[in-house]
Amino acid sequence: MTNKKLAPELLDKLENFLAERDFGNSPKELYEPLSYILSLGGKRIRPILTLLAYGMYKEDVDTILPQAAAIEVFHNFTLMHDDIMDEAPLRRGQPTVHEKWNANIGILSGDVMLVRAYDLLLSTPAEKLHQIIREFNQTAAEVCEGQQFDMNFETYAQVDEEEYLTMIRLKTAVLLGFALKMGAILADASTEDTQKIYDFGVNIGVGFQLKDDLLDVFADQDKFGKQVGGDIISNKKTFLLIKALELAKGEQQQELMRWLEAKEFDKTEKVQAVTAIYNSLGIKELTESKMNSYFEKAFADLGSISYKNADYFEGLQGVAKQLVHRER
Ligand code: IPE
Ligand code: IPE
Ligand code: MG
Ligand code: MG
Ligand code: MG
Repeated sequence: MTNKKLAPELLDKLENFLAERDFGNSPKELYEPLSYILSLGGKRIRPILTLLAYGMYKEDVDTILPQAAAIEVFHNFTLMHDDIMDEAPLRRGQPTVHEKWNANIGILSGDVMLVRAYDLLLSTPAEKLHQIIREFNQTAAEVCEGQQFDMNFETYAQVDEEEYLTMIRLKTAVLLGFALKMGAILADASTEDTQKIYDFGVNIGVGFQLKDDLLDVFADQDKFGKQVGGDIISNKKTFLLIKALELAKGEQQQELMRWLEAKEFDKTEKVQAVTAIYNSLGIKELTESKMNSYFEKAFADLGSISYKNADYFEGLQGVAKQLVHRER
């Protein structure tokens, strides 16, 4: 039987660690946004993955709370900058940092968060520090690459499915992969298991971003905490839009093109019109099926991994499964 309390307990430890950590306080314009975004919660998926992966091989999970927290602080830094780039008004149900303060504050506060993430990684034992920093850096650079592709694609008329999948693997999936891999490395898992757990993370990460794209259109605004329709407003080449561009014909194709090319428009009207096109083309079901295929592959491959603690392995599966049905 699965230990249902495990993930909530790990989350509790992580939250306490973050709440007690001194990230700095003066000037307040630099540090308040850092505390603000971290205090808005979020699912904390990535650090939980780190702790679960570690616990599959070693018992003293508390010793890696700093590294788990580093991943979350890094993730929150990327969100702060992402919201500036995406001109997003809402994050986790509250105004984004650049809306509450301004873009310069979001840039600099994000910068210091990246530095604070490195501070946290310094807790790593000397014999593993070099590898952790090297692989973290590789991942962080890939996230930047993915984010730049994402921005480039906004102005491209066509992006194919393969280019899209590369983009989301970089901007989102590799960080989930690294979060797991770091836990495995710190726990001295075998090279083979470390690679398997990384691949699992990348596959659920691709599924996770497909779900994120779906929620951006079809979520319940109150539960979602971000602006529903944001991707439609900014012509993001999501899986949904790519499929709609492939499938729309005739008058519907003309209408979709008109919305994509419109320079001035009523945002609500555009979101409603494009969503209606998605609905009539069955885009939601197509995207769900693509998402499911990534989760299924991830779970199938996980079957061959070895581990010492079954509670943590089952905890990992449980947390990953919840990502399929999440509403935020
Ligand atoms: C949002 O990440 C950004 C993506 C990579 C899709 P999360 O959905 O994990 O956001 P929080 O941290 O739970 O708010
Ligand atoms: C961002 O993707 C992924 C990051 C690397 C931050 P999105 O732009 O879709 O993330 P949300 O929807 O704003 O959270
Ligand atoms: Mg965004
Ligand atoms: Mg973005
Ligand atoms: Mg999104």
